[in-house]
Amino acid sequence: MDKRILTNHLLMDDEVEATLRPQHFNEYIGQTSVKEMIQIAVEAARKRNESLDHVLLYGPPGLGKTTLAQVIANELGVSMKVVSGPTIERTGDLAAILTSLEPGDVLFIDEIHRLPKIVEEILYSSMEDFVIDIVVGKDSGAKSIRVDLPPFTLIGATTRFGDLTGPLRDRFGIVHKLEFYNDQDLETICRRTASIYNCDIHEYAIQELAKRSRGTPRIVNRLFRRVRDYADILSDGVITVDITKIALEKLKIDESGLDRKDREYLLGIIEKYHGGPVGLETIATSISEDPQTLEDVYEPFLIQKGFISRTPRGRVVTEKAYKHLKKSFQGTLFE
Ligand code: ADE
Repeated sequence: MDKRILTNHLLMDDEVEATLRPQHFNEYIGQTSVKEMIQIAVEAARKRNESLDHVLLYGPPGLGKTTLAQVIANELGVSMKVVSGPTIERTGDLAAILTSLEPGDVLFIDEIHRLPKIVEEILYSSMEDFVIDIVVGKDSGAKSIRVDLPPFTLIGATTRFGDLTGPLRDRFGIVHKLEFYNDQDLETICRRTASIYNCDIHEYAIQELAKRSRGTPRIVNRLFRRVRDYADILSDGVITVDITKIALEKLKIDESGLDRKDREYLLGIIEKYHGGPVGLETIATSISEDPQTLEDVYEPFLIQKGFISRTPRGRVVTEKAYKHLKKSFQGTLFE
């Protein structure tokens, strides 16, 4: 168990989030088969004294892609540099990052599907041959120079696997999808978080939090913090199941973990489009939400819960969702 104890409640959520991050495979909970395969690759690379093959991690936000990348770097005994795809605007930016790496280091590129095209193209030779061709000078004086790079491991993360180009996808030797966590794993994560915060929490409260966290560690940690606020204000700081339920009710998180936006989305399709099928853009406009956010953040969980299905003609709300929302489905009223 983690020995770090946080007593300073003035730390910001982001800083605490970083402290909560597991550092090694044995602290990283869930994603068992992905973890096992990566562990083998890491051990083999270490044994051969080589850099690890490039890794692509994809899946919905909050499932621990950055965390897993950091664990990989720690286990390799190297440093990790973190950048986000859209912030690398020019080839020179990428060249500066790559030439600053030490041999074996990890470069983590979040939202790798959003790399500008010219940057992506020079990334190919960097990944394959650890060289980069940079154009210096202008017009007739322009010439290309080849710069050798230290061997490194690129870990790319994306919520949109389908938006990656074929050539980029093909250059990753290790490709894994992170799945939603089961309740048991989320309970373990929540228990670990409570112990790092040195906070007393009842088992039923842990179960309630896990059940309502949409299979997502980032959410279980966030809800834990909000519920802890209520416990500090309403009682002696001990998180009981009653306090958990009161807090989650105030936060408008229902028993299945749906929030206000999820319900707005489902009710929008039910009430305005008779349950669908309806196109993503149409729903997005009708509830004033960005289509990409709906597709990347909200829909994956609603699909895995069996509340919507994606059909060639658009999104359809299932009978299960009608039941959950107590809406009448084809004449049947769910109480
Ligand atoms: N925090 C985020 N993801 C985690 C995981 N898989 N295990 C433990 N803590 C985490």
